Amino acid sequence: MKLGSLDVDSPYLLAPMAGYTDKPFRSICKTFGAGLTVSELISVNAVYYGNKKTMKLIEKSDIEKPFSIQLFGGNPDTFLYAAQKIEHICDCININAGCPANKVVKAHSGSYLLKEKNRLFEIVDKLKKHIKKPVSIKLRKGFDENSINTMDFYKELEKRGIDFIVIHPRLRSQFFKGHLDYEHIAIAKDALNIDVIVNGGLNSYKKIEEVKQLTRCNFFMIGQSAIDKPYIFEDLINKKDSIRSVDFLKELIKKHFTLMIEYYGEYLAVRNFRKFFHHYTKGIKFSKQLNTQINSAKTEKEVIEIIESINNTQ
Ligand SMILES: Cc1cc2nc3c(=O)[nH]c(=O)nc-3n(C[C@H](O)[C@H](O)[C@H](O)COP(=O)(O)O)c2cc1C
Repeated sequence: MKLGSLDVDSPYLLAPMAGYTDKPFRSICKTFGAGLTVSELISVNAVYYGNKKTMKLIEKSDIEKPFSIQLFGGNPDTFLYAAQKIEHICDCININAGCPANKVVKAHSGSYLLKEKNRLFEIVDKLKKHIKKPVSIKLRKGFDENSINTMDFYKELEKRGIDFIVIHPRLRSQFFKGHLDYEHIAIAKDALNIDVIVNGGLNSYKKIEEVKQLTRCNFFMIGQSAIDKPYIFEDLINKKDSIRSVDFLKELIKKHFTLMIEYYGEYLAVRNFRKFFHHYTKGIKFSKQLNTQINSAKTEKEVIEIIESINNTQ
């Protein structure tokens, strides 16, 4: 199926999440059928200065097709420079106009762009003029109660050539909690001809069916639920909500950790893996004990032993 001009195998897309959507995790989600993977938000300034850590964050695996890089920044010229520098690595560039973090907003980027729409339009215009790959945008419903996005604003983005749009229907002032206004997305979907992607609170097949009815959207972007259960993409494709066995989880945990060792090396893999392990073992018996062990593990061998012990604790 087509998402804008991109060929995607499934309508269920992985959301960008700083600290989580690295190459190993994206690869895991891709093997379960995520239609699109997106890097975490990448600073245009860091790309400008060729920051090594940042350039590693945008490495992609061979199976990530199509792959999108999400950029954030407030200066249109730096934005364009960064987009041109990384365009060859990805299939699509995504503009972040949703990040609520104080640091990002203070730098006049992320969700701040919803307050300074002319600056956002300037970024869009520059990218659409000079970038050959599709340019999409991920945004919130508005910055605060006084600046809720109008349909004219969305139409203006469409007119300026944005290829598709992801809407998280919360205000910046809500951060990650509170009411999700899917009705706002339904109205935007009606008003626009480009693809509109729903994002927020999509944690099961049942939920997506409800949201699909309400919004009439065809594409769905999944964030936090993918961290808990990356196999959600497979469930959605199979039109069901599954409960996986402990043996299945154990194999998945091992595979994920192996990919992290390959990508980060032992020192960082052992430390960065802890947060994923906490999510994977949420419903497992003795998870508290397992998590205490994983938090103090220092070597690959120790982590593997903890993973191997999971069955014995059930
Ligand atoms: C830990 C974390 C990091 C996030 N980082 C980003 C990011 O880098 N870029 C972005 O556009 N959104 C980011 N988000 C927001 C998600 O992409 C998504 O919009 C939000 O979590 C709502 O979707 P969900 O309910 O499916 O999680 C982040 C969310 C979380 C929880």
